[in-house]
Order: sequence, then C-alpha cells, then structure tokens
Amino acid sequence: MRTLLITGGAGFIGSNYVHYVLREHPEYRVVVYDKLTYAGNPDNLRDVADDPRYAFVEGDICDAALVRETIATHGVDTIVNFAAETHVDRSLSDPGEFIMTDVYGTHVLLEAARELGLERYHQVSTDEVYGQVLEGSSVETDPLDTRSPYSASKAGGDLMVLAYHTSFGVPATITRGSNNIGPYQYPEKVVPVFVTNAIDDKPLPIYGDGLQMRDYQYVEDHCEGIDVVLHHGTPGEIYNLGTGVETRNIDMARCILALLDKPESLLQYITDRPGHDRRYSLCVDKIRTLGWTSRHTFDQALERTVRWYVDNEWWWRRIKSGDAYSEYYRSHYGGREVPRPSQG
Ligand code: NAD
Ligand code: DAU
Repeated sequence: MRTLLITGGAGFIGSNYVHYVLREHPEYRVVVYDKLTYAGNPDNLRDVADDPRYAFVEGDICDAALVRETIATHGVDTIVNFAAETHVDRSLSDPGEFIMTDVYGTHVLLEAARELGLERYHQVSTDEVYGQVLEGSSVETDPLDTRSPYSASKAGGDLMVLAYHTSFGVPATITRGSNNIGPYQYPEKVVPVFVTNAIDDKPLPIYGDGLQMRDYQYVEDHCEGIDVVLHHGTPGEIYNLGTGVETRNIDMARCILALLDKPESLLQYITDRPGHDRRYSLCVDKIRTLGWTSRHTFDQALERTVRWYVDNEWWWRRIKSGDAYSEYYRSHYGGREVPRPSQG
C-alpha cells in the first residue's frame, strides 16, 4: 500500500497520471492536491471522483501549512509533483506566477518531504531546461541553458530538488519530459489549439516559419515513464523521457489537417514567439536502462489525440466558450497574422 500526493493532478499530465495509477496499482491510494488555476479542471477527474481510493484537496503548493496537514491527514508517503505554471507564452507576459509555483512551491513540497520523512519525492520536469538544441541531443548531465521565464523557473525547481537530495538526503528523482499530447490538454498548447480550431474550420496559428522542432510524445507513455522512475529510479538521478524523434511544427499541423480532412488553406502564419526555442532533442538512452521506451510513434500518438478531441467535444467546448479563454485567445493571437514565409 502506498499513498501518493499528486500535486497538479487536475491538470493535463497529472490527471492522466491519476488515471494511470488507479488502473495500474489497484492497492495504491491517490490524493490530488491542486490549486485549480485556469489549467486545473475537475472535469479531467470526473470519472474517478467516486473511486474510494481517490481524494481531492483544493490547495496551493506554496501553502506550507495545508501541504503538511494534507500529508498528515491522508498518511501520504510519496509526492509526485506535477503542479506548475506551464505555458511558455504566459510566462512571457506574467513571469511572477511561474517563479512562485515552479520554484518556491517546489521548495515548500521538498521541505515537507524532508521534515515529515517521506519515502519518495518525484519532480516532473521538462526538456526545456536544456535550452534549444540546434544539433545533437541533450543528456542528463548537460548544463542548463534556459531562455524563457518558464524554463528558468523549471530549472530553478530542478536545482532545488537536487539540493534537497544532496544537503538533506531527501530521496528524490527528476524526469525531464518532451512535449506531451493526448486527452485533457488545455487548448492553449499547440496540438489542442490546432485540432479544435481545425474541427471548427478556424485558422491554425503557426509561429514564425513553422520549422521549429519538438519531440511530441503520447501522454500515457510519459506517465508510464514517470511511474517507472518512481519505482525503479535511483534517488538523486535525472532521467530524460521522450521518443527521441522530433517533428517540425508545420508537418505536425499538416498531419492534423489530413487526419481531419481539412484544407491547408487553414494554415495561418503569425509573428513568432519572442526567444522561441528552435529545437529540443532528448537522448533517451538512460531511461532505456530501466526498461522504458515510448509505446506510440508520432503518427499513432497524433491520431489517438485527434480522435479524443473529436469524441470529447463536451470537454473542450466548455473551456473554449468561456470568457477567460476568449479573452486570452483575442489578446494573444489578435493582429499577429503575417504572409506565409518563403521557407514555410
Ligand atoms: P497543466 O498546466 O495542464 O496543469 C498544471 C496543474 O497544476 C493544473 O491543474 C493547475 O491547477 C496546477 N497548479 C498550478 N499552480 C499550482 C499551485 N501553486 N498549487 C497547486 N496546483 C497548482 O500542466 P501539464 O502540461 O499537465 O504539466 C504538468 C507538469 O509536467 C508540469 O510540471 C510541467 O512543467 C511538466 N511538463 C509538461 C510537459 C507538456 O508537454 N505539457 C512536458 C514536460 C514536462
Ligand atoms: O518541451 C516540453 C514543454 O512543452 C513543456 O515543458 C511545456 O509545459 C509545454 O507547454 C510545452 O512547451 P512548448 O512551448 O514546446 O509547447 P507549445 O504547445 O506552447 O508550443 C509547441 C510548439 O508550437 C512551439 O514551437 C511553439 C509552436 N506554436 C505554439 C502555439 C501555442 C505555434 O506554432 N502556434 C501556437 O499557437
């Protein structure tokens, strides 16, 4: 019997991980601890709400007293931290929240893990901490070279985790994942924006020349990799999680249009993201030594993802029809249209 505190469990990857744990570990209990920011959504956990092994606490990871109280009340022995501000574009307009949650909040959780002598702490991190990688692939010992407030905050969290392991012996691991796609991803990230816009015959906004590269992995694969590290990883170690295969954004957009049988005239180039990282690429040799490899190719992952959004309009239409989303979309995308670049 193990009791996991899954912070950020009402978000995209966290909620997929909750589903994964309840399915794969019938003897475990799960406590989701989530602030329910704009990205946290109880709908993501609707189908586990009545499971007796599941509990939900609404709270901020920066609230040290509530974190400790939750751990004590529920007999938590393990923290898996997904809670973060996660959208690069928002970090460019409001960096403060990122520093609070991604750095200070991580510190609060580590302090609780140390004081209460928890068995394990796991930090869910990102390939973005290595910065853009124009050639080759990042290995876990590479120096951090962050370029956005988001990636800088995540790097701060990672360094705090390593410091708590070294200084206080907190048994902590870190995974650095590439871009996830799949069910329950808030429609501000590129794939759900493109898929849901395409379903509605709206333009797909391509930043810059669209030739940036990302390693898009299926969220269930990422969840499995996190779980493998939680159970078999060595405390103090970092593990990259990805497919090891990158795709250009413009090619990903064209695949989505093809899957939905929509015309390429929906591609709309817009001004680029400031400081846009051109390419991320992960070396995944280390995680392979623990026996994990992603199960879905890019094509399989994208097809499953597109099918989920087609089948679950109830989920994303509720978000996209809200005032907060409409206002975000208007202020973020409005007036940025540019002609198709010669390279695109
Ligand atoms: P998300 O934005 O969908 O969800 C984040 C969740 O954290 C939300 O439920 C939100 O309410 C919660 N949260 C935010 N601030 C909080 C706070 N102060 N206290 C408690 N809860 C808070 O994010 P995601 O895409 O699911 O990412 C989850 C984690 O995985 C993040 O740490 C992110 O950096 C990392 N990651 C994401 C990706 C990706 O492609 N999405 C890839 C690699 C790593
Ligand atoms: O690499 C892992 C990271 O992936 C995670 O740590 C982050 O939390 C997650 O948000 C994601 O960051 P990206 O910036 O790579 O994801 P995003 O979906 O915002 O953008 C993916 C690519 O698509 C990027 O090159 C920018 C581009 N893009 C994005 C949007 C939202 C567009 O061309 N148009 C868009 O409208």
